[in-house]
Amino acid sequence: MTERLIRGRVLTFVAEPKGIDDTAAWRYFEDGAVLVRGGKVVDTGDYADISKLAGADVEVADHRPHLVLPGLIDTHLHFPQTQAIASYGAQLLEWLNTYIFVEEQKFAEAAHAAAVADRFMDELLSNGTTTAVAYCSVHAESVDAYFTAAEARGMRMIGGKVMMDRNAPDALRDTPQQGYDETKALIAKWHGRGRALYAISPRFAITSTPEQMEMSQTLVAEHPECYVQTHLSENRDEIAFATSLYPAAKDYTDIYARYGLLNERMLLGHCIYLSDREISALAESGAVGVFCPTSNLFLGSGLFDRDRFDRLGARWSVATDVGGGTSFSMLETMDEAYKVLHLQGQRLTPFASFYRMTLGNARALGLEKQIGSLHAGADADIVVLDSSGKSAMEYRMRTARSLAEELFILQTMGDDRCVAEVYVAGKPMKAKGKRATAASR
Ligand code: GUN
Ligand code: ZN
Repeated sequence: MTERLIRGRVLTFVAEPKGIDDTAAWRYFEDGAVLVRGGKVVDTGDYADISKLAGADVEVADHRPHLVLPGLIDTHLHFPQTQAIASYGAQLLEWLNTYIFVEEQKFAEAAHAAAVADRFMDELLSNGTTTAVAYCSVHAESVDAYFTAAEARGMRMIGGKVMMDRNAPDALRDTPQQGYDETKALIAKWHGRGRALYAISPRFAITSTPEQMEMSQTLVAEHPECYVQTHLSENRDEIAFATSLYPAAKDYTDIYARYGLLNERMLLGHCIYLSDREISALAESGAVGVFCPTSNLFLGSGLFDRDRFDRLGARWSVATDVGGGTSFSMLETMDEAYKVLHLQGQRLTPFASFYRMTLGNARALGLEKQIGSLHAGADADIVVLDSSGKSAMEYRMRTARSLAEELFILQTMGDDRCVAEVYVAGKPMKAKGKRATAASR
């Protein structure tokens, strides 16, 4: 069994940093190493200690002076929108109708879905993202393409077939029964196969009839082991339309609550215009609000109020939301998150940012034992970051005086050019990803 010793400046979190000086929240090893065997972390610490645990034929990957972190995690994006990023000029509902519902129809063709799925996984990896939660299209074959591409790379990926039975073109509509049957079959096929995990995915209240919401409720009750994902309160016109379709609901959140969908495995994209009552309902159920800063700015949606989530005790995570989001990079995403919070007088420290992309998002998924940190026994999903990956960064970095400053520069100026290597279950993927990308162009 191959043993690999990954050497560099190792940073991993054990708790949410409560302030810039909360050094108890992370472990940092200036000359550090992660020993990996059989796809798992054997142990992490100072190189001098960890190297003693390695066998004689260990492969050493010396990444000094780069940073070694747990692989980044993206908790919400759309794999069929890979080629629809940067679609001009519209807010949510017009953008969906003009661009997205046109693009997603292409996924009726299995070959197209397979090609995009390969490219999608390679984009994630080249940005240092080793786990993501994605929507597939309404076509069951798109889910097969998605998990097949993830499996080929050994990635822990979460996803599901979007269910939508109204307010969309005919070619993108399923029926409540079809949505149920196909989701059931896909759960049986994929959930727990290798590293795959399934997310039951009613797109949002606007595109599901009450009958489809009932079917979603049945699916969630029958499969409490699966995730549930949808969208909530992203845009004012969306809220008015959704609540008009469900007049008995107290508010948008209550639509999902009435169908029993809120639970600690539920991820709700956006959550921008929620009342305190709605955030408290999320808090009570353990459901997670997903902050998608590049998307919220690009679609002109609004500003996620992180402090209100924290004050009311609700869970939240971060995500790219490609293709409303404009980048696969979690670094660029956190750069925009910082700005969105800053505009509202809220602080996001560099340590809190790197916590959120790793352990924070892993906790949001209930997967903190497996991913998001480099503790002994964790899956060896690892990213190596070069904080001088761009020339302007290298110049700026010369004046950095602390790890906090370095992380902030990395987040503010960095992108995929700063990803020196990425390991999936202990295997280096960066060079492989590049080859696959070139071949499929
Ligand atoms: N709401 C419903 N579907 C979508 C989508 O594909 N992207 C975004 N940003 N919001 C949505
Ligand atoms: Zn979305």
